[in-house]
Amino acid sequence: MSINKYKEKSKRFFNKSYNTKYGNSKTADKFVLEFLLRDNPQNILDLSCGDGRTAEQVSRLLPQSKITGIDISDKSIAHAKSRDVKSANFVVGEVDDLPFEDDSFDCIYSINSFHHYPEPEKSFAEMVRVLKTGGKLYLADIYLWSVVRQIINAFLPYGNKGDYKIHSKQEFLKMAHDAGLENIEYKSINYCIFKAVYIKK
Ligand SMILES: C[S@@+](CC[C@H](N)C(=O)[O-])C[C@H]1O[C@@H](n2cnc3c(N)ncnc32)[C@H](O)[C@@H]1O
Repeated sequence: MSINKYKEKSKRFFNKSYNTKYGNSKTADKFVLEFLLRDNPQNILDLSCGDGRTAEQVSRLLPQSKITGIDISDKSIAHAKSRDVKSANFVVGEVDDLPFEDDSFDCIYSINSFHHYPEPEKSFAEMVRVLKTGGKLYLADIYLWSVVRQIINAFLPYGNKGDYKIHSKQEFLKMAHDAGLENIEYKSINYCIFKAVYIKK
């Protein structure tokens, strides 16, 4: 299946389901919020922000920070804008072509979305481009045991949600390293979600 097909499926699916519980994770939110509170970044990118749920919490926690949310689903972005989060700006766009200058953000986070990115190396390169040197990238996404992951991955192209691939820890370590990131931590939070923190060298 072509790269664009995955992106079209993601957009179509989340335009319909942005206001459901699909993909929402309080566990992942908690991880990101804890790190943001500790690091207190000024310019934050919520990559694949969905309906703006996390951005709204971040703005309450760090009212001085500027938050930008971006998502491929225009309906999600319309909903995020309706939240009227004063310190946040929401734009439609996609991970492999981020409409931002180099070195724009102190911090980027992406929750439950990386498995939708059909060109993951390119996505890492884009994230690194817009991240400042010394900036942090927080990822939380699906974690599965090897055999289960491989079986599920084999079926993903036939699904309707634009899910591309659930990556292993080793694959994340390599992609991040090749993109110029230093791995600070990679841990499973529970049986199906991992958290990872990287810093741009
Ligand atoms: C499971 S939802 C998670 C949304 C949000 N981060 C949350 O935790 O509620 C995955 C999100 O990834 C977005 N997405 C999928 N492919 C994308 C792409 N290529 N670029 C940007 N966002 C994308 C979808 O539109 C969707 O909002």
